[in-house]
Amino acid sequence: MSVKVSPSILASNFSSLGEEVKSITEAGADYIHLDVMDGHFVPNLTIGSDVVKSIRDKSQIPFDVHLMIDPVEPYIDGFVQAGADIISIHPEAKDDTDVCLKKIKSHNLKAGLAINPDTNWEVVKPYMDMLDLILVMSVHPGFGGQKFISSALDKLKSLRKEIDQSSREIELEIDGGINFENIQQVIDAGANVIVAGTAAFRGGKAEYANNIQKLRGK
Ligand code: DX5
Ligand code: ZN
Repeated sequence: MSVKVSPSILASNFSSLGEEVKSITEAGADYIHLDVMDGHFVPNLTIGSDVVKSIRDKSQIPFDVHLMIDPVEPYIDGFVQAGADIISIHPEAKDDTDVCLKKIKSHNLKAGLAINPDTNWEVVKPYMDMLDLILVMSVHPGFGGQKFISSALDKLKSLRKEIDQSSREIELEIDGGINFENIQQVIDAGANVIVAGTAAFRGGKAEYANNIQKLRGK
């Protein structure tokens, strides 16, 4: 299975965000991962749909939007209009997961479910028919640069089995604390989309292509 890399712009230089998106795309990224945080669902604030819209024309690859916000449902349309291609939501948020996923699908976008480290992987089961992506959090969401939580590996293995037994093509994404040391483990456990902030943007522009190559594993 081919491995895709989705660099998280959270680790980029925000003062030249457009340029960073362009550079990381040219370096071979498959998706651009956009972490949206509200200071309520997670203890940090990042960007909203206007920022996403402002960088949409800097890259032709899919925008992989990770919504760590609660409520989430009222904001979905804004991210659709901003040019998102994939939108992932958290079942831990209070809004109705089913309603949110249907809303994303109604715009012909790919829908993802992102699950926190303390959430059982089986939470995805009722939604399998609607999902295009499952995002396993391997840190508690809120900040880049945290340490990988290794229990995510078992979760990936269980989800890989569940996905392979379903008749659907669902991507399995891992997010948080991914580095050149643990990358092979997460790929071997079944992940096929790798989110990386710190590791992707490490060393500045000249290193981006090399970083992305290493994040595809052996
Ligand atoms: C964490 C975010 C991640 C994070 C990844 O809440 O969802 O996407 O930016 O950053 P690193 O790779 O530095 O852990
Ligand atoms: Zn993320």
